[in-house]
Amino acid sequence: MRMIDIIEKKRDGLRLTKAEVQYAINGYVKGEIPDYQMSALLMAIYFQGMETEEVTYLTEAMLYSGDVMDLSHIPGVKVDKHSTGGVGDKTTLILGPLAASLGVKVAKLSGRGLGHTGGTLDKLESIDGCRIDLTEKEFVDQVNRINIAVAGQTGEIVPADKMLYALRDVTGSVPSIPLIASSIMSKKLAAGADVICLDIKIGDGAFMKTIDDARRLSEVMVSIGNGFNKKVTAFLTGMEQPLGRAIGNRLEVKEAIETLSGNGPEDLTTLCVEIAAMMLKHAGIVKTLSDGKRMARENLHNGKALGKFTEFIQAQGGQIADLATFVQANEQIPFLAKKSGIVQKIKAYNIGLVSMKLGGGRETKEDIIDPMVGIVLNRKIGDRVACGETLATIYANRPVSADIIASLEEAFVITEDTPRIQPIIFEVIGA
Ligand code: URA
Repeated sequence: MRMIDIIEKKRDGLRLTKAEVQYAINGYVKGEIPDYQMSALLMAIYFQGMETEEVTYLTEAMLYSGDVMDLSHIPGVKVDKHSTGGVGDKTTLILGPLAASLGVKVAKLSGRGLGHTGGTLDKLESIDGCRIDLTEKEFVDQVNRINIAVAGQTGEIVPADKMLYALRDVTGSVPSIPLIASSIMSKKLAAGADVICLDIKIGDGAFMKTIDDARRLSEVMVSIGNGFNKKVTAFLTGMEQPLGRAIGNRLEVKEAIETLSGNGPEDLTTLCVEIAAMMLKHAGIVKTLSDGKRMARENLHNGKALGKFTEFIQAQGGQIADLATFVQANEQIPFLAKKSGIVQKIKAYNIGLVSMKLGGGRETKEDIIDPMVGIVLNRKIGDRVACGETLATIYANRPVSADIIASLEEAFVITEDTPRIQPIIFEVIGA
């Protein structure tokens, strides 16, 4: 077999065989196929796409390029969740303990944030003492003991993805449905759970800009998972504005705790309750989604979900002594409305970038995060604001630059129109 023939075949829109996909991926991981040939293949895939069968071959080749987690020592149905990345997305911190408090075994590997999106590991690490570097044994033991563990990748999971993603990043081939689907699903399959709930974000702050693209991506990911005998459900959810009100690591942990105490923002609470209900159904704990939703809402109000969060954080070595003093930024600066009207849009991308520029996120992988900084939205879409009232509060430890203010000014769109308030979940695929 020759890589040049595989590239030409895909360039001409033909379907690759399993052997060809394996040849390309295995050869690339071993260093036998150079970057320039793999770049050409990635670009051919970007333009020509792939049939679902080919994407499954690609996912399988990537999956077996490294270690695969063995969760067989955890009895019962193991559940995982993945978000394609959003702004203010602290769902895992709420959904994980919530589902675990109802008997679901939550075994989740998470990632770090980059650019305008945050990552669960950074939020966990913002808690004093909280470890995310669990060994596979610690991870398995903790799920068996308290139903939940969330950690960074152990061992070498899907090295092919690390190599391919780095290449896609510099060759303009990131936004390709087959490449995104195989990248995410290979990592989720390697993490070993039986049930995978996907949160596919759509909108300004997300990879997927339209519902049609999100639907196509979801359908491919659900088919891939089903091909590996996994139950996969994709939730297509809105990212037209940040999720909840808090953006920034400790601010988001605080909002997660408030939500686990039954006092969270409506969009965030609804999303967590709906996904928790699906997890309960897939795990065989409830027969109907409405039973699952009722039980999830109960646990947000009776202290059980919050109790599970505390147990989970303590199990990973973390401690929050006092929530009132948990976020300690030098300055809290109100960002004021320059006109009166109704908030039509809060561009999530801008808000994510502002949080990053304040030090709450990473521009490059090497940047060190300041856990205390970020933004709290005082207004969300549909809220009325008068000129001079606070739209958002900036938590800063460094001077707030003019471009941060300009980004915020552009983020809030205010007119006198009545905005169309979208539900947080647009569609569910693979239920
Ligand atoms: N997230 C991933 O893990 N991979 C992609 O390709 C895109 C988003």
